[in-house]
Amino acid sequence: MKMKQLFSTALIASLFVACSPQGKTIDKQEIIHKLSLEDKTHFVIGTGMEHVDGNNAVIGATKSIVPGAAGTTYPLDSLGIPAIVLADGPAGLRINAHRKGDSATYYCTHFPIGTLLASTWNQELVEEVGKAMGNEVKEYGVDVLLAPAVNIHRNPLNGRNFEYYSEDPLVAGKTAAAYIRGVQSNGVGTSIKHFAFNNQETNRMNTDARISQRAIRELYLKPFEIAIKDAEPWTVMSAYNKINGIYTSESKELLTTILREEWGYKGAVMTDWFGGKDGAKQVWAGNDMLQPGKEEQFSAIVDGIKSGKLKEADLDRNVSRILNLIEKTPRFQGYRYSNKPDLKAHAAVTRQSAAEGMVLLKNNNALPLCTKPAKTQIALYGYSSYDFIAGGTGSGNVNHAYVVSLPDGLKNAGYKIDKSLQNAYIKYVAKCQADEEMRLEAAKKKDPKVAMLAAFLPTPRPTEMEIDTQQLAVQAQESDVALITLGRISGEFLDRKQEDFYLTQAESKLISSVCQAYHKEGKKVIVLLNVGGVIETASWKHLPDAILCTWQAGQEGGNSVADVITGAVSPSGKLTMTWPIAFSDAYSSRNFPIDIIPDFDLKGQGKKGTGRKNVDYTNYEEDIYVGYRYFDSFGKQVSFPFGFGLSYAQFRYSDAKIDNKGDEISVSVDVKNIGKAAGKEVVELYVAAPNSLERNKPTHELKAYVKTRTLKPNEKQTVTLTVKAADLASFNETKSAWVVDEGAYRFLLGTSSRDIRATLSADIKARETKVNNVLAPKEKLELLRR
Ligand code: BGC
Repeated sequence: MKMKQLFSTALIASLFVACSPQGKTIDKQEIIHKLSLEDKTHFVIGTGMEHVDGNNAVIGATKSIVPGAAGTTYPLDSLGIPAIVLADGPAGLRINAHRKGDSATYYCTHFPIGTLLASTWNQELVEEVGKAMGNEVKEYGVDVLLAPAVNIHRNPLNGRNFEYYSEDPLVAGKTAAAYIRGVQSNGVGTSIKHFAFNNQETNRMNTDARISQRAIRELYLKPFEIAIKDAEPWTVMSAYNKINGIYTSESKELLTTILREEWGYKGAVMTDWFGGKDGAKQVWAGNDMLQPGKEEQFSAIVDGIKSGKLKEADLDRNVSRILNLIEKTPRFQGYRYSNKPDLKAHAAVTRQSAAEGMVLLKNNNALPLCTKPAKTQIALYGYSSYDFIAGGTGSGNVNHAYVVSLPDGLKNAGYKIDKSLQNAYIKYVAKCQADEEMRLEAAKKKDPKVAMLAAFLPTPRPTEMEIDTQQLAVQAQESDVALITLGRISGEFLDRKQEDFYLTQAESKLISSVCQAYHKEGKKVIVLLNVGGVIETASWKHLPDAILCTWQAGQEGGNSVADVITGAVSPSGKLTMTWPIAFSDAYSSRNFPIDIIPDFDLKGQGKKGTGRKNVDYTNYEEDIYVGYRYFDSFGKQVSFPFGFGLSYAQFRYSDAKIDNKGDEISVSVDVKNIGKAAGKEVVELYVAAPNSLERNKPTHELKAYVKTRTLKPNEKQTVTLTVKAADLASFNETKSAWVVDEGAYRFLLGTSSRDIRATLSADIKARETKVNNVLAPKEKLELLRR
């Protein structure tokens, strides 16, 4: 560039960007005024527009800012507006670990999956995790982390449940708020996703979620509402799917009426990657940024404005919101990132948080292992013991430097491992991996698309290795205890299949034969569940002595498990979803894409709709009866209830009190550790509305929760839980209002949704809050009612 040109570019840039004590600011009106229609359109659709001649340079340039990031905004260099960088989330920052011609590494910490974090029920801890993650975002030069993900666990088989938090909107919303606060405390942004109703992966880009207005408000929007009001994420990511016939990214009722007008959201909205169809409609709806940008969106917007279908003022409004976002970012503020976050310190954060979210499902005096580690030999069974899963696949995966294996974690804690068994498994794992590679290579030769897909899809878990009965008998004599790990992996693009929920024959056989052999020797068997979601447990849980759900625990997995096994950490995680006996027990299973193999089209859009139920549309006939709201209200047996989790400590609740202040109700209770080990307890407060059966409400709903500090044996803590009277409302569709019915409400203090320790009561006055009558289903849905 010539000297004169350089000078004038710098001069123009300085006109629109000013410095103030709060940092650099942008004169938005001035910039909008200067931009051509085409520039503004580029600006709202990201940089992935390979079609636009001359813009390939832009794509190349922004792609290389932080390699492996999901996208950038469109730079306006001459006006001093840089491209900001957006990268996934949620289990850590997702960027490439290696760069061409660069010997440095750019690994990120793989933190535990979302489901595990939520299972801690510890908002302070989640905030600490967010802080550490956000530091990596900032130090690696990223501006917005595409996380957290808060969609409701509507059905156990959703392939992305591992990224999400819970079947309950309060747990999901509070966990997300803590995560956002933590990440954003670094001065970088988050993107709460996928707004909303993205509850299945099958045909996710086109499927129509048909849901009642009540379930929309009470369940599916609630976690977003809580997190957005509590923590103000810088951005919101709309979802791929439709809601009652309209793409979420094209729904003004969702993105403007509810999000902005009702909830007062001030940030920017972006699409999910290549989401939605009509760029002009997206802009009109208030979907400010279309990521990563498609050719047809550009022409749709420009043509829309030229034809008068779209107002330029709508485009300007979106441009201004994106400028607001950019103004806050470290890149715009000139932050000099180090590319050297403190990965060691963050490894300690992930190790500790993972241990706190593990859920002890059963314990017949098997855990913690009481003998001295050096004197204890553990026999490790199960493929996943030797290929411990850190997290799920797809955009929620993280390019980590290492994963602490289970044998290494146990060895680090001082235990001995049965070596010959380990060697046999190592050989078996290597053979299975080589076979899988060969299978993939052959498939790629047939269809190159497979190569692309393989990078994203989970590798199916191989069959369990057969254990010879005689060898097993010897192992049971030689080792002191057996650990069996069952693993499940899932991820973006694919829902789980029923067979993934149930145990394979080989797994069932492994559990029964190991239990038989070890019990014969008077030794214990512990099962570890290295899973991202719910599996079947009812048919075999009586066999082992202990079951620990470790979830997918991030890169320090082996160490975190060892911390719980030794008793260094007393488990205090609780289930954030019900574990049903059979898959079909969940009412939503009638309306879920069971065992459908989707047709993949990697350009994004699934195959054209053929009107298939649960593929092209899904009727949410269970209405609000998802998870414990269904199982508990309809008296169904479950394997493990919502909110359940054991501890090495034991807690007694006493002296429960209620203080009804009208607008707010406070409940307090003394929690005393009457056990022999230290531990933390989660106290859950459910509320039962009067006449719930006649009024078609769940028998009880979680309205608050709190976790105690670590209580030593005999130590007591008084905890207080507060509920706003307005939060006792149900959504009344006829009135289009949140309605609190008058009457005596019961306040239930529990240690799970089915283990209530104290019941109190308060008279609540009627109240009503009108909202907009929006997002109505196009046709009447057949809904389950009590
Ligand atoms: C996922 C999002 C992700 C985006 C960018 C999409 O496929 O659904 O969750 O943030 O890609 O990678």
